[in-house]
Amino acid sequence: MDRRKKIYLGTNTKMYKTTGETVAFLKRLNQLTKEISRDKMQLFVIPSYMTLAAARESVPRQNISLGAQNMAWEEQGQFTGEISPLMLKEAGMDLVMIGHSERRHVFRETNEEENKKVLCACKSGFSPLLCVGETAVEKGYGIAAEVIRTQLKVGLHGMMPCEARKIMVAYEPVWAIGVNGVPASKEYANQIHQVIRETLTELFGDEIGGDVPVLYGGSVNPQNAEELICMPEIDGLFIGRSAWDADNFNAIIRKVLPLFEAKRRGEDSV
Ligand code: 13P
Repeated sequence: MDRRKKIYLGTNTKMYKTTGETVAFLKRLNQLTKEISRDKMQLFVIPSYMTLAAARESVPRQNISLGAQNMAWEEQGQFTGEISPLMLKEAGMDLVMIGHSERRHVFRETNEEENKKVLCACKSGFSPLLCVGETAVEKGYGIAAEVIRTQLKVGLHGMMPCEARKIMVAYEPVWAIGVNGVPASKEYANQIHQVIRETLTELFGDEIGGDVPVLYGGSVNPQNAEELICMPEIDGLFIGRSAWDADNFNAIIRKVLPLFEAKRRGEDSV
């Protein structure tokens, strides 16, 4: 378990923040967190497309990884309105988020499309962050595990185990995200993370599948961040609203980092 020794903390700024606001946010976040060893924490921000080039120039890559919120599955072609992996490479991106709940539900993206994007992101040398999560209706039918397994098995179909060394997964239940979201309980989140882990090891074997970082997202806030990060299966937090102010994000980072380290120490001593 090498990749999972450190904590993963990130935010997706969705369609908020202009370029000026993104740069100011990143500079402040960097200033507040730069002394934390990056061997202990991977910090990432996923701003909107238009801000990416300026965002990359504003803070050192080794301190804050940056990612795009979506990506086309081809490098070039007749895809009006899409953004190519080559363009994201040029802008200095490290990650590409794929299959965010708003992409799946507002823009009707399918598991098959997410799969093409994941494979293309790997081929282009990015770390794909695949988001999965069930709707409230699916949860009500008791099929959350089946939905998550399908999203993973289709979304990661055809990926070679060596490519899986670069992926990250975020569990973001649709009913937990955004202003009307209800955060998942720590027990429920942990239970679904267990399903995700089992599916990843089924797909890629114990060594590689067991090492993919799996983050929880959906109404993470300063109150619930601590109990979530203490759960055995949760490797990091993927935060929206509560991280869009750099000081608030830093406050969450400071709370969860020691708890995460204590959790890993406890596991090592067993
Ligand atoms: P909130 O934390 O605002 O619910 O958003 C989570 C999210 O969508 C991160 O991608």
